[in-house]
Amino acid sequence: MSTFRIRHLYSGLTESIQSALGRRDPFLPPRRLIDTIGGGDFKAVGQEFFRYFTELGNLKPTDRVLDIGCGCGRMAVPLIPFLSKDGGYWGFDIVRSGIDWCQRNIAAKDPRFHFEWADVYNKAYNPEGTQPAGRYVFPYPDGFFDFVFLTSVFTHMLAQDMENYLAEISRVLKGDGRCLISFFLLNAQSRELLRRGSSSIDFQYEVPNGATSSLKAPEAAVAFDEAFIRDRFEANRLRLAEPIRYGSWCGRSDFLSYQDMTVSQKESTARS
Ligand SMILES: C[S@@+](CC[C@H](N)C(=O)[O-])C[C@H]1O[C@@H](n2cnc3c(N)ncnc32)[C@H](O)[C@@H]1O
Repeated sequence: MSTFRIRHLYSGLTESIQSALGRRDPFLPPRRLIDTIGGGDFKAVGQEFFRYFTELGNLKPTDRVLDIGCGCGRMAVPLIPFLSKDGGYWGFDIVRSGIDWCQRNIAAKDPRFHFEWADVYNKAYNPEGTQPAGRYVFPYPDGFFDFVFLTSVFTHMLAQDMENYLAEISRVLKGDGRCLISFFLLNAQSRELLRRGSSSIDFQYEVPNGATSSLKAPEAAVAFDEAFIRDRFEANRLRLAEPIRYGSWCGRSDFLSYQDMTVSQKESTARS
């Protein structure tokens, strides 16, 4: 048995004992699920992004919120005490285990929260998926949401797929609705830092409209050209709020978070 498997079995057993004794936070998923979204401090990262949602994205308690690529609920948990009875949360992801956990541990106790599994292909996350992300239609009506966010999701999708998701985001957002998305953006500064070897991820392989760190598993980490992202936002009537809050991923000394953070607002129908 591998060391990795033994470690997971051991932490799974410890977690079950803690839960049985009522000593485990009921909104903390097991370590094996946290590892599927990159590991780290589940609560601290959720709190960090909650600040960006409210301070940069102007998230309000009465908002209807969509969390695309919600994983095992890291961003949903801080919204439990925040959303009012008039607000609501919808999340979907392509990894079933995270969605099952969220349905059992969050949605089953709180009718404001909804989680859905999408059978969409991603080489890194759901290689058995049957639907291409480039044609996936989100299961929500037009103009349903006030606020949509994607944290560390477009950093795992290729350009054609991301373009379809942006069009879907624009469709499901209300006029004037807001959207917060994290990216790895390639511009003069980040490309220069990459060239110098300062980046934490080596985006050495060019792919259409961006670059990846691995040709074998391109979705492991994807960066997009900033000019392309700006163009796609405009094409989808998403007005980008300036400045983009750049991240530390490429070795920059002045940053907000690890990834680059964009906030945009859908043009209202009245203005179109
Ligand atoms: C690094 S994890 C981040 C999870 C979550 N957003 C968070 O910050 O806690 C990337 C997530 O994107 C999801 N993902 C990848 N491709 C997707 C797609 N086409 N549609 C929805 N989710 C996707 C993965 O399944 C995974 O849960």
